Amino acid sequence: MKDKKYEVRRRYDATATYYDKRYWGIQMTKYNEIFSEIDIDNSEIILDVGGGTGLLFDFMENQTSNIFCCDVSFNMLKEGKNKHKANHFVCADSDHLPFKENRFSKIICVSVIQNVPNPQIALREIHSSLRCDGILILTALTKLFTDSKIKEIMHKASFSILKLWQLSIEDISVIAEKNDC
Ligand SMILES: C[S@@+](CC[C@H](N)C(=O)[O-])C[C@H]1O[C@@H](n2cnc3c(N)ncnc32)[C@H](O)[C@@H]1O
Repeated sequence: MKDKKYEVRRRYDATATYYDKRYWGIQMTKYNEIFSEIDIDNSEIILDVGGGTGLLFDFMENQTSNIFCCDVSFNMLKEGKNKHKANHFVCADSDHLPFKENRFSKIICVSVIQNVPNPQIALREIHSSLRCDGILILTALTKLFTDSKIKEIMHKASFSILKLWQLSIEDISVIAEKNDC
């Protein structure tokens, strides 16, 4: 498991400087489609798991300063920090999130889960960092995850799915809440 994580981190560290050039348009399309389904207000505290170069900050255009972007790749975070100096970037593994329980009102996890050796572990961590009245928004590549696989892993991590739909580019998207509060 460790080897896969090191390899993922090495790959994103090595490609960080051109990630935005290559993926900005694709990811913005995803964010537009996801955020047409949910409202965010200024007072919310949001965690972006596997947030990479902080494209969520680009999308939100500094609407709120309460977003924490965490990622295993130091170089991806460095790119993000160069763009958004005032924001919070944290180098952390999704399997060991260094945040208090029940801290975040929204947790976003876009195009990350395919890199994680055991999504169940990451989802349990996300579950404990999310507030009881919080919402998780997660996307997963359709070439690797079916609707039923997503339903299964969400259910095992004690989430109820509020909406599951296909984005126009490559991902299934899911909005979920904790079902054991
Ligand atoms: C395809 S990029 C997506 C980045 C960002 N969410 C976006 O929408 O642009 C995948 C990101 O997941 C991060 N990642 C992979 N495995 C991770 C893990 N175990 N914990 C935290 N981040 C991870 C990678 O370093 C990379 O930045």
